[in-house]
Amino acid sequence: MTTASVVGASGFTGGELLRILDGHPEFDVVQATSRSSANKTVGHAHPNLRHLDLRFSDPAELESVDVLFAATPHGVSMDQIDRFREAADRVVDLSADFRLDTEAEYDEWYDGHARPDLLAESEYALPEINRENLRDATLIASGGCNATATILALKPLVDAGYVGDRTPVVDVKVGSSEGGAGGGAASSHAERSGVVRPYAATGHRHEAEIEGHLGLSVAFTAHAVDMTRGAAATCHVFPDDRVTTGDLWTAYRGVYDDEPFVRLVAGGSGVYRYPEPKAVAGSNYAEVGFVVDPGNARIVAFGAIDNMVKGSAGQAVHAANLACGFVETAGLEQTGYHPVGAP
Ligand SMILES: NC(=O)c1ccc[n+]([C@@H]2O[C@H](COP(=O)([O-])OP(=O)(O)OC[C@H]3O[C@@H](n4cnc5c(N)ncnc54)[C@H](OP(=O)(O)O)[C@@H]3O)[C@@H](O)[C@H]2O)c1
Repeated sequence: MTTASVVGASGFTGGELLRILDGHPEFDVVQATSRSSANKTVGHAHPNLRHLDLRFSDPAELESVDVLFAATPHGVSMDQIDRFREAADRVVDLSADFRLDTEAEYDEWYDGHARPDLLAESEYALPEINRENLRDATLIASGGCNATATILALKPLVDAGYVGDRTPVVDVKVGSSEGGAGGGAASSHAERSGVVRPYAATGHRHEAEIEGHLGLSVAFTAHAVDMTRGAAATCHVFPDDRVTTGDLWTAYRGVYDDEPFVRLVAGGSGVYRYPEPKAVAGSNYAEVGFVVDPGNARIVAFGAIDNMVKGSAGQAVHAANLACGFVETAGLEQTGYHPVGAP
């Protein structure tokens, strides 16, 4: 078996990593860290994992493993990367610490970077856009949830040259788990219940990630909505020339036909005619779709994911599968449920 550790295992994405790795045929989790819950069983923080015989330990003492998953807040991995890499052959980081390519971008969008020398070495994990570079990678930056939903929705339009001169407008709705287990006042049940709250009307940091990895500037707004899991991107794109529905099917099928985790959902009949986070909750699937609005010379493209899986832990395991040479879908093939309540 390939040994793994999860640093930051008491948090939301850490719990999802433990859940996915528990069902993975290749990985054996030997360490799960939490400073605040050290010595408690992982079931203490994650009741769905009460069956696991594993206790949290202090991240000050890292075990030697093949793969270390870091599910820690922004800034921790860049500070501790030397320790992480001493402990493991491969590091998969779920934070934003290694997603951007240059120190200048971190100066502009974050508070600088402690280890800019490593940025050129890290590989960005959206496997759908960077698969070949992830094979054998030793430092992996798992993509952000909003960026994942947006990039997957827009990638076929960019490749086909259907994005015109006008900057696309992207509106993302996200669930409360995006804020992490700490959450804060804005994520408390009483405050969050019933909201459709713009929380990053302009200037969201994922703009930089989308631009860097899609090669396209977007005007981005995010809303916090009343669901626990999920990110849904609605992207308004203005092509310079007429584009038909048939053109779009050709473009999207060309990019995603062989992708194991992308489902095209565009029109048709029934209740769920476009991508819907509820339909992928608990799974590593992304739904992508589109519609043409000829009257306004507009394409509306959609992307929907579970931020806890395709937007974080599942994407990280997918990247680790590629890096380790495993079957790329290993441990990730479970589907979601239907019907479900608010995910
Ligand atoms: N939530 C999402 O939808 C999502 C999606 C994509 C990416 N991400 C990224 O994934 C990372 C984790 O997110 P999350 O939502 O899981 O956060 P979270 O629920 O707040 O969990 C953070 C974890 O990190 C640990 N931790 C905090 N400070 C630490 C330190 N200095 N050293 C070691 N461990 C530390 C915490 O446990 P202790 O304090 O007990 O040690 C906890 O286990 C973040 O960078 C986030 O941006 C999140």
